[in-house]
Amino acid sequence: MKLHPHISIRLARNKGELEKAFKIREIVFINEQHVSRRLERDGLDGTSKHVLLFLGGKAVGAARVRFEGKTARLQRMAILKQFRGRGLGKALVRHLLSYGRRHGAKNAVIHAQYYLKEFYSGLGFVGKGKPFQEACIQHIQMVRAL
Ligand SMILES: CC(C)(COP(=O)(O)OP(=O)(O)OC[C@H]1O[C@@H](n2cnc3c(N)ncnc32)[C@H](O)[C@@H]1OP(=O)(O)O)[C@@H](O)C(=O)NCCC(=O)NCCS
Repeated sequence: MKLHPHISIRLARNKGELEKAFKIREIVFINEQHVSRRLERDGLDGTSKHVLLFLGGKAVGAARVRFEGKTARLQRMAILKQFRGRGLGKALVRHLLSYGRRHGAKNAVIHAQYYLKEFYSGLGFVGKGKPFQEACIQHIQMVRAL
């Protein structure tokens, strides 16, 4: 039986770890999804909380959270392609939800890429409003209480 390597999810602790989060985002959003660097690095990183997911000590996932009043806005959710489909994305979102809750947020919001609607529905989010284009990719706003 294949043993599951150790998974840990936590805030980026220093500049080096922050760079790891930016690198994962670059690979996933800029290289893979062709989002422009200007949109990806939108100037809001300095006021966001950054989370990394480590698998056996290697950073393979990243996301950021922004607090807006009682709302936690989850953004830049990314798992490196070769590590997808084994529950890491779900674990990352669950971590962000509990992090948001612990920090006083009452609800969570995400601009979900439309093709991931079912992924986020499975995590308790419901779609709100009509789909829209962002960075040339179809999105839908999804919300859930915390
Ligand atoms: C979205 C993302 C983080 C999900 O990570 P992941 O590790 O593959 O997700 P998981 O393995 O935890 O998947 C959990 C569930 O969602 C489903 N799922 C994952 N990606 C999916 C997809 N592209 N389409 C449909 N379902 C998907 C899985 O089948 C799984 O379902 P199950 O629990 O019933 O088996 C990852 O696909 C990614 O980085 N994508 C590129 C960046 C991106 O689009 N980010 C989201 C911005 S809103």
